[in-house]
Amino acid sequence: MNRAWAIAFVAFAVSSVLGAKPYADGDTSGCGIEHDFWGLPHHLDIESSGQKRSYYIHLPWDYDPNHHYPVVFGFHGAGTSGHYFDVDTLLSLPLFSSSKIMIYPDGVHGTWAGPSYAHTTIKQDLQFVWDILAHLRAKYCINSARVYAAGFSNGAGFLDTLACNATVGGEFAAFAPAAGVYYTEPDGACKPARNTTPFLEFHGMKDTSAPYDGGKGHGGKLPSIEDWLDLWADRNGCGNKPTQSDFEEGKVHHLSYECKGEQGKGALQHWRVDDMGHVWPAKHPNLSGGKPAHISAGLLAMQFFDQFVRPA
Ligand SMILES: *[C@@H]1O[C@H](CO)[C@@H](O)[C@H](O)[C@H]1NC(C)=O
Ligand SMILES: *[C@@H]1O[C@H](CO)[C@@H](O)[C@H](O)[C@H]1NC(C)=O
Repeated sequence: MNRAWAIAFVAFAVSSVLGAKPYADGDTSGCGIEHDFWGLPHHLDIESSGQKRSYYIHLPWDYDPNHHYPVVFGFHGAGTSGHYFDVDTLLSLPLFSSSKIMIYPDGVHGTWAGPSYAHTTIKQDLQFVWDILAHLRAKYCINSARVYAAGFSNGAGFLDTLACNATVGGEFAAFAPAAGVYYTEPDGACKPARNTTPFLEFHGMKDTSAPYDGGKGHGGKLPSIEDWLDLWADRNGCGNKPTQSDFEEGKVHHLSYECKGEQGKGALQHWRVDDMGHVWPAKHPNLSGGKPAHISAGLLAMQFFDQFVRPA
């Protein structure tokens, strides 16, 4: 990636932090409680919709029980687990999340609701996210205005489902899906909490599991990424003329939309990578032999998140 451009992007991100008046409510009873596993992943079981569910939590290595931390959820792809996603993406490294609490929920039998291959209903998985949030607030010190979600493949598709539910999705300030399969879009039941739902999407043109042009997926009908972007451009009141910048000899394309509202600047962004397959874009090879990409979704997603707060 072009260095001057990267610096400009960071400067833009920092200058627009906290544009809106942030949400100040949310249970903070978990502040002040000491934990002894900071810097290491910790596996927790919770009860949700009458089932035993689980998630991994990663606290910053210097966790201060009285500091209100932003939280980033990472939803794994089908057939894996929360821990696998952490190790595969390396998102718990200080490089990505030094001052954030990372949460990696486990899907039931490795899947998230939406596609036909899932083992849960949408209602159950949304309730699970709701229950994790309640659990977090009671045990850890979190900033409820700065809760974000990233995800890969089936987990990325679930982010879209989550964002489309005003109650549970409304708890999140921004979303960053990669190689997403947006199975629940065609049903037209999307009712986000706010006029602006910030989204940053990553997709490879060589992705055969989540094809850029949509069509028939393993778990149902898929919209094309262009159509999916148009839907969010409409919902967010963005013009349909994004600014496009090209990098890496024209193999990497960044599209940014200016949307309505206080947090509308860059509230819908997309990275299209011509020679990338079905991967979470990273500078390191993944655990299944996936090749490094030209861009780092971890860095770009965290920079994106830092621009947005859940408004009051
Ligand atoms: C959002 O999800 C919750 C939890 O599953 C559910 O109770 C609620 O009905 C959903 N809201 C809509 C509008 O679908
Ligand atoms: C890792 O790469 C393999 C091979 O390209 C791919 O099938 C898999 O989905 C990738 N996983 C992630 C998390 O990027």
